[in-house]
Amino acid sequence: MLDFLASATPAIFGFPVASGVVLASGKSWKTLRQFSLTTTRDFGMGKQSIEKLIQNETQHLVEELWKSQGKHWSGQGMKALTEESSDPEREFHHKSLLTVVQLFFAGTEISSTTLCCALLLLLKNPDVLGHYCVPHINSALHDSQYFEKPDITYPGHFLDVEGNFRKWEAFIAFSMGVALANGERWRILRRFSLTILRDFGMGKRSIEERIQEEAGFLLEELRKTKGAPTEPTFFLSRTVSNVISSVVFGRRFDYEDKMFLKLLQMINGSFIEMSTPWAQLYDMYSGIMQYLPGRHNRVYYLIEELKDFIASRVKINEESLDPQNPRDFIDCFLIKMHQDKNNPHTEFNLKNLVLTTLNLFFAGTETVSSTLRYGFLLLMKHPEVEAKIHEEIDQVIGPHRIPSVDDRVKMPYTDAVIHEIQRLTDIVPMGVPHNVIRDTNFRGYILPKGTDVFPLLGSVLKDPKYFRYPDAFYPQHFLDEKGRFKKNEAFVPFSSGKRICLGEAMARMELFLYFTSVLQNFSLRPLVPPADIDITPKISGFGNIPPTYELCLVAR
Ligand code: HEM
Repeated sequence: MLDFLASATPAIFGFPVASGVVLASGKSWKTLRQFSLTTTRDFGMGKQSIEKLIQNETQHLVEELWKSQGKHWSGQGMKALTEESSDPEREFHHKSLLTVVQLFFAGTEISSTTLCCALLLLLKNPDVLGHYCVPHINSALHDSQYFEKPDITYPGHFLDVEGNFRKWEAFIAFSMGVALANGERWRILRRFSLTILRDFGMGKRSIEERIQEEAGFLLEELRKTKGAPTEPTFFLSRTVSNVISSVVFGRRFDYEDKMFLKLLQMINGSFIEMSTPWAQLYDMYSGIMQYLPGRHNRVYYLIEELKDFIASRVKINEESLDPQNPRDFIDCFLIKMHQDKNNPHTEFNLKNLVLTTLNLFFAGTETVSSTLRYGFLLLMKHPEVEAKIHEEIDQVIGPHRIPSVDDRVKMPYTDAVIHEIQRLTDIVPMGVPHNVIRDTNFRGYILPKGTDVFPLLGSVLKDPKYFRYPDAFYPQHFLDEKGRFKKNEAFVPFSSGKRICLGEAMARMELFLYFTSVLQNFSLRPLVPPADIDITPKISGFGNIPPTYELCLVAR
């Protein structure tokens, strides 16, 4: 399943932002899916026609310029290239471009301003006219790491020693790291990451103990709230993040650690930003959006800061590295880098180290903590479900013993509820965007090789063929008539196929242990009557962001 797909680098993860496309559940996904496919095709297949239109318009512009006969010219004519004309004879009424122009009225101004700036720069640097150069006028590209002279017009940035145009890595920095890499790079990084995560206990006893210990710290914190209204976001992300942190950084962070809280705020902020309509527009129209100022740029800076933090951890590890005693994921990667140092084609380089660590840290924090946060809200809306979980916990675990993964098989109801929470909340609704690696026939549509596709997981998670009440919270979806746990092949919150979530085993363990530990010790009390609890996501895009809420945790 899904073997024809590779990961696409979503524009939003590339320059300068992160990811998202319009999302829906139930019936509306069909309409949206159709729309996404059509738009992708319009943009993929329409390239030549748009090129022709631009060539036409360029001719009109050149004619205008001839008319100026070398006299003073202000540059305003540049707008002709980007403005929609009222002349019905002119072909600039192409539907897809019109849509773009309507959506981004600013696009006119930005494109023409870019061209004007380019001309101005050429005037200031007449020697440049002899070269083949592409102007990139954007402050975020002024990175001295990539560009020798970041703040001056220097076409050499885009030319190799033979004067040929070269594409800079700065433009594709996010196609590295396991989550967004493809081909051999992805295979190597995925195999390596899985091996190291398993070595450090993923899916095994040792990580279970780590989670139990961390859940203990969480319970202590929650007790301190003494049943007062509490906003749970960072209580949950701190504890969950410490589990993956102990694998990638070899340590947990103190809950009072301000830097840790800042990191979590950045991760949470990026997940939200990736899910805004801005991000969705960026994904669909990155060609234009990358030149526009606006909210879609925020996540770029957040991710850069997270990368800086990881780079600083790498430095600390490097300074105290003992190849015989790797302490964490970073150490293991560094050892591999040293072993491969004479191999110019190795994937074990600093960039892949930083980005793969970021992938794990990010994915290992936000997904699980958002699911817990959403789950507690759903349980408050359905107190009868919470009551049944309490009952099962009391029967199987009792009030004192720490919950363990072995309890799961004896707790089918709790297991079914956790599955139902994941099904309904659909926390990563379109997985990670993919890219077809060969021409693919999909339900009668030909998707040409290279087409970006967004596998909307909600289309499966809410498929009425598999779930009786697709849009309702109904734990019985995962129970048979005798109350035993019932698997369902349409349960795909971790996606499906070769790129299926790499941290699934860890996530499943965490969800079970956190839900049971919290509910063993507390009853959840909403601040409003259950009927008034709104479970609509705060934002829906790359992620389904749970609504912000407060609750009281009353000791049992
Ligand atoms: C409730 C928790 C989680 C959910 C719902 C979830 C969901 C997903 C989904 C939908 C994908 C995209 C798969 C695709 O490309 O088709 C994914 C990928 C990934 N996840 Fe998770 N995830 C969760 C927890 C975790 C955890 C705890 C980790 C870290 C240990 C993790 C690490 C990753 C990585 C590294 C990838 C990229 C895999 C690749 O491209 O080969 N995830 N996840």
